[in-house]
Amino acid sequence: MKGNRGPRSPLLSRLAREKIRLPAALLLCVVFFLAGLFVSILISSPSQDPSGGGRLTRSRLLELDDEDPERSPMPHGKTGESTPSLIPFQVLSWKPRALYFPNFATAEQCQTIVQKAKSRLRPSTLALRKGETAENTQGIRTSSGTFISASEDSSGVLGQIEEKIARATMIPREQGEAFNILRYEIGQRYASHYDAFNPAEYGPQKSQRVASFLLYLSDVEEGGETMFPYENGSNMDIAYDYEKCIGLKVKPRKGDGLLFYSLFTNGTIDPTSLHGSCPVIKGEKWVATKWIRDQTEK
Ligand SMILES: *[C@@H]1O[C@H](CO)[C@@H](O)[C@H](O)[C@H]1NC(C)=O
Ligand SMILES: *[C@@H]1O[C@H](CO)[C@@H](O)[C@H](O)[C@H]1NC(C)=O
Repeated sequence: MKGNRGPRSPLLSRLAREKIRLPAALLLCVVFFLAGLFVSILISSPSQDPSGGGRLTRSRLLELDDEDPERSPMPHGKTGESTPSLIPFQVLSWKPRALYFPNFATAEQCQTIVQKAKSRLRPSTLALRKGETAENTQGIRTSSGTFISASEDSSGVLGQIEEKIARATMIPREQGEAFNILRYEIGQRYASHYDAFNPAEYGPQKSQRVASFLLYLSDVEEGGETMFPYENGSNMDIAYDYEKCIGLKVKPRKGDGLLFYSLFTNGTIDPTSLHGSCPVIKGEKWVATKWIRDQTEK
């Protein structure tokens, strides 16, 4: 029958062409799959990497992970530090905001500061309010002390401490007053007071004390605690005898630091920052005080 051998219909010819294409497409797929496999083996196989670089990077990362289970240091700004560091602290109170820094300084650093101050001690003085005189305020502050700035200390210890205080508070070094190094002998104390100056009592101030950092330079066998009688608002409603040693008491430990803020963040004086130094009962108390201002003294 002729009809069968006539020209193919368009549908038939397409089917015929596809019969050839199908195996070709399959073959192409296989070729690409094998090529892909080969390339991926090339990339991942360390033995194919002449420098072994890929492998090294991975093991370096692992080493880093082993050394520092935390994270790797961040890129830092021009005034920043290249690595993280640790200054342990304990929050002693939120009212007032007070932090304790165990082992802030070494025993050797404390010794150096005490030796430096010993020959320069004078009776400590008070900032006087209206109507107050050295005579009628006698007994409020009975320690001896001296002011030493970091630049006067050739050993460099006060500079190191000052820098660490600045790092712990993030308040620039320049805003700190010179260190007031104090010695309290048996019976000596500092009755409760504020470090900030209330303008209503002391007149207008060029700058204000924001915070105080106490570095204990000695242990004290008995007494000599730093006390916060109004801690968490306690004792404020009674007629508190400011000479009494009550409230939160912090026992001095050589090398440890105590930081508290005298001002709220809005700049007003925190009433609970009232504090004092209980009388030394046994032993001797040495402390380095740094008052930190809200701006650089001009
Ligand atoms: C702190 O003071 C507040 C307000 O007087 C009081 O409600 C709270 O119980 C005090 N906290 C402690 C732990 O005593
Ligand atoms: C300042 O802040 C303290 C604590 O948050 C608050 O008790 C006081 O009322 C504030 N004083 C002013 C004048 O805003």
